[in-house]
Amino acid sequence: MQWKPVEQITGCNTQDAISMLTHALIGEEGRTIELVWEGGARTRFHAMWLRDNALDDKTRSVGNGQRLITILDIPAATRIGSALIKGDTLEVTFLPEKKTASFPAAWLRAHTYDREANDGRGWTGSDIQRWTKATMQNAVPRADYAEANRDGNVLRQWLAAVRTYGFAVMDGLPAESGSLCKVADLFGYIRETNYGRWFEVRAEVNPNNLAYTNLGLQAHTDNPYRDPVPTLQILACIENTVEGGESSVVDGFAVAAALQDEDPEGFRLLSSYPARFEYAGSSGVRLQSKRPMIELGPDGELICIRFNNRSLAPTVDVPFADMDAYYRAYRRFAELIEDPAFEVTFKLEAGQSFIVDNTRVMHARKAFSGSGKRWLQGCYADKDGLLSTLAAIEHGFKEAAE
Ligand code: FE2
Repeated sequence: MQWKPVEQITGCNTQDAISMLTHALIGEEGRTIELVWEGGARTRFHAMWLRDNALDDKTRSVGNGQRLITILDIPAATRIGSALIKGDTLEVTFLPEKKTASFPAAWLRAHTYDREANDGRGWTGSDIQRWTKATMQNAVPRADYAEANRDGNVLRQWLAAVRTYGFAVMDGLPAESGSLCKVADLFGYIRETNYGRWFEVRAEVNPNNLAYTNLGLQAHTDNPYRDPVPTLQILACIENTVEGGESSVVDGFAVAAALQDEDPEGFRLLSSYPARFEYAGSSGVRLQSKRPMIELGPDGELICIRFNNRSLAPTVDVPFADMDAYYRAYRRFAELIEDPAFEVTFKLEAGQSFIVDNTRVMHARKAFSGSGKRWLQGCYADKDGLLSTLAAIEHGFKEAAE
């Protein structure tokens, strides 16, 4: 279950919300206030919450909006002494400080928390759309690098696709070493690791990582042994003249939701108990993490998938009584991940790249023959930077439209 939009909760239209505050009723000896909106909808706030979120320049920095006070600066006995509706603003006087603060009605509407609790497990936000082969194979989001670099609208759509679907293809990169960094430069920064600023993905003799052989790779997320995991991965192709070697992606959120539908107990086991992941393949490196394969936030939001057979360490955090069922759930999760109905496949040609949200979308590689050459490079980057750049571009577009 997802949070309900404000208009569903209050029964008002967002359009006319600004001037529709009709009554402000102080309750619980000033510890709460109930606002009545035209049409009869009601939303409650706590005095402490309102005081902590006051918008005045003593509470919030005018320059950057950061809070200037701590919770300890607010008296524990804070209550509302009086409240007045003045046009489209609510004016509140807090006691014992005798401090008056104004809250725009639209701001109160946008920040309401008096709504039904979300007790669903495995929900995802409205920005996220799950996909399968049927919905995505012929609709792979893609953009040309030069266009994305030149045109903010093209970049916005491409970044929004990453936010919504967890992956996107980018065409038109120079087919040369290091050009994958240009993709990260569009929205943020490379995350360097012990594999370097970027790493090579091509056949090698005596490889210390299966990615460097010509065998197929099961769909996986990268580096689950890091905490935090790299949240974005970019893979760019410099040369690809082999037979096979296609790339594929699988929406881990869609697969997790399918598992939850089919086997809620299995979903509960994989999301409740930690798995352990580790990598110690190079000298001086011993990476370890203890996190579930399906990670939920405290409110049940599906926030991260970790799935990688190569780096899964012995599972020691599942009680003996649950281990059988845990392994059954792990097997079923793996079967669903392998189900072609979830897999979107494409072959990267020289100058093409793709980005995956490594907290959600798994990637795989088909086996390829020894003749010809397959040379890819990979790097990691951070999703918070991508989402920040996207939000800033969207904000700019919105302001320009107003
Ligand atoms: Fe990988």
